[in-house]
Amino acid sequence: MTTRILTGITTSGTPHLGNYAGAIRPAIIASRQVDADSFYFLADYHALIKCDDPLRIQRSRLEIAATWLACGLDTERVTFYRQSDIPEIPELTWLLTCVTAKGLLNRAHAYKASVDKNVETGEDPDAGVSMGLYSYPVLMAADILMFNAHKVPVGRDQIQHVEMARDIGQRFNHLFGQGKEFFVMPQALIEESVATLPGLDGRKMSKSYDNTIPLFGSAKQLKEAISRIITDSRAPGEAKDPDNSHLFTLYQAFATAAQQAEFRAELLAGLAWGEAKQRLFQLLDNELGEARERYQALIERPADLEDILLAGAAKARKTATPFLGELREAVGLRSFRSNVQVGEGSKKKAAKGARFVSFRDDDGSFRFRLLAADGEQLLLSKRFADGKSAGQASKRLQDGSGLDLRVQGEGFALWLDAESIGESPAFADSTACEAAMQRLREALAPQSE
Ligand code: TRP
Repeated sequence: MTTRILTGITTSGTPHLGNYAGAIRPAIIASRQVDADSFYFLADYHALIKCDDPLRIQRSRLEIAATWLACGLDTERVTFYRQSDIPEIPELTWLLTCVTAKGLLNRAHAYKASVDKNVETGEDPDAGVSMGLYSYPVLMAADILMFNAHKVPVGRDQIQHVEMARDIGQRFNHLFGQGKEFFVMPQALIEESVATLPGLDGRKMSKSYDNTIPLFGSAKQLKEAISRIITDSRAPGEAKDPDNSHLFTLYQAFATAAQQAEFRAELLAGLAWGEAKQRLFQLLDNELGEARERYQALIERPADLEDILLAGAAKARKTATPFLGELREAVGLRSFRSNVQVGEGSKKKAAKGARFVSFRDDDGSFRFRLLAADGEQLLLSKRFADGKSAGQASKRLQDGSGLDLRVQGEGFALWLDAESIGESPAFADSTACEAAMQRLREALAPQSE
C-alpha cells in the first residue's frame, strides 16, 4: 500500500534556512521512500489571503518553485503543482463550504487571533478580517480531501486545520456517501526530529521576526546574514557555552555528528565568535552551494518552470477531475441526460423504469449504463472522448429506432453506425442472453408502440 503524502507551501515570501530545514529537506527525503506517493503544491490561493501585492505573489511562486526543484525534488516521482492550476479545488471548496458549520470556523486559531487582537485594541471584532481568512480552513480541507491524502506534514500551527479537514470530510461522507466513504481521513504529520531553527536573534527563525537567513542569496548575502547572528560578549580565548548558543544550534542542524563534536570542542577551547561564524558559513556554503547554482539557473528560465508546473497540474487533474465529477453527482449536480426523460410522450419508458446513467470513468472518458427497473445492468457503453458524443449516442438509443443487437461471446453488443458502442455483461447460457436482449428491446421500445 502506498501512503499519499500531501503538503502545501503558501507562496507569500522567499524561502529561508528555517523553511529548508523544517519543511523542504524533510519533505524531499520523505518523497524518496518507495511507498510514498507525494503531492506537494504551491498554495497560491492561500497566499492571496495575506498578500495583496501581485508582484510579490508572482515572485514568491517562482522562487518557491525553483527552490523545491533546486533542492532535489524529483517531479517524475512527485506530483508538484500550483493550487491555482487546479480549478477543481475552488469547486470542491464550495461543496465543502456548504457542509461546514460556521461555528467550526469561528474556532479557527488564525481567525480567532485576529479577533482577539481587535478586541484588545478596542476595534470592531471583525476589523480587517476577510472572508478569505475566515474560510481559510475550508480551502485547506479541499486541498487535502481532493487527493485523499493520508498524511499531511505541517507545522504545529496547522494541526487544527488538518483536524478541521477531517471534520468537514466526515460530514460530507455522512451526508452524501450513502455508505461510501468519499474522503479518506487525513492525519497531520509533525516531524518531532526536525529542528525548529533559531533565527539571528535566537527566537524561532521567521519572516515575521525579520531574523532569517536567506536560503539562496549570494555567498556574500549569506556571510552578511551570519555576521549578524547575536552572540554573547565572551572574548577570543574565553570558553564558549555551545548549549546556550543559537549559532551552535544552527550549525548542528547541518553538520555530521563528527563535525558537531569538533565544533563543540573548539568553542569550549575558546574559539573566537568571528571564527565560529566563519565555520558556520563554510558549512552552509558547502551544503547549499550546488543547489544555489541550480536555483539561479532555474530562476533564469521561468518558461521551463511554467512547463514543469503545468505538467504537474495535468497529472494532479487526472485524479481531481473524475473525483470531482463523482462528488457533483453525489450532491445532485447531475446531467439531465442521466435521468429518464419525464416530459410528454416518455411516460411509457418511465413506467418501464429503464434508466440511462452517465458517468465519468477513472481515465476521464464519458460512459453510460442502461439499467433495468430493478437495477440490473443491461448495457455498459464504450468510452467516449467527450460528454456530447456519449449524450448523443444515449439519446439515439432512447428514441429506440433500429436497435442493432449482436450476440458476441457470452453476451451481446449494441451497434450504432457500424460500430459497437456498448456491451452487456456475460451470461450463463444463450437462453439467459436471449432473455436479456429481449429486456433491452422492451426497455428501449419506441413510444408509439
Ligand atoms: N496553510 C498552510 C501553511 O500556511 C499551507 C497549506 C495550504 C497546506 N494548503 C495546505 C498545508 C494543505 C498542508 C495541506 O503552512
